Amino acid sequence: MWDSGNRLLFQSCIADLIDTPSVQAMRDVNQHVDINCFEHCVFVAYVSFLICRRFGWDFHAAARGGLLHDLFLYDWHEKGSHQGWHGFTHPEAALCNASKICELTELEQDIILKHMWPLTLRKIPKYKESFVVNAADKVCALAEMLQIYRLMRVRTKLNVSCGQV
Ligand SMILES: [Fe+2]
Ligand SMILES: [Fe+2]
Repeated sequence: MWDSGNRLLFQSCIADLIDTPSVQAMRDVNQHVDINCFEHCVFVAYVSFLICRRFGWDFHAAARGGLLHDLFLYDWHEKGSHQGWHGFTHPEAALCNASKICELTELEQDIILKHMWPLTLRKIPKYKESFVVNAADKVCALAEMLQIYRLMRVRTKLNVSCGQV
């Protein structure tokens, strides 16, 4: 899971995104428990990348869409930080911010916009990679909340705390 071959290929998929100010700004946004949004998105991106690579699917788009899926850039715990209900509206905010830092493919757009389905009822994922990121998001969030993220030492293995992935 954590071997250098996977890690290097993953890094190459997100190389042009990881150091952008917007992506780095996710470090300042709380996500689950003591996990920030950057750490969560890298975790989701890596798990999605591994699954898609395993099945011969578009792991490049899965890594990129996974990294950008929660690029909403506000603290959703704070009242007045956003309009509407965060659970429904943040995929569109993330897509808007993501489209400012790179040209997104249709698949990457679908991954970001549909990642909250089935909560967002009508936004059903169109591609298998979108379903993978959708599922990885939920599994990773659970792992973060149940402290499995910490027990698996994901932060260290993905080097997210030292600014490198
Ligand atoms: Fe999300
Ligand atoms: Fe997420």
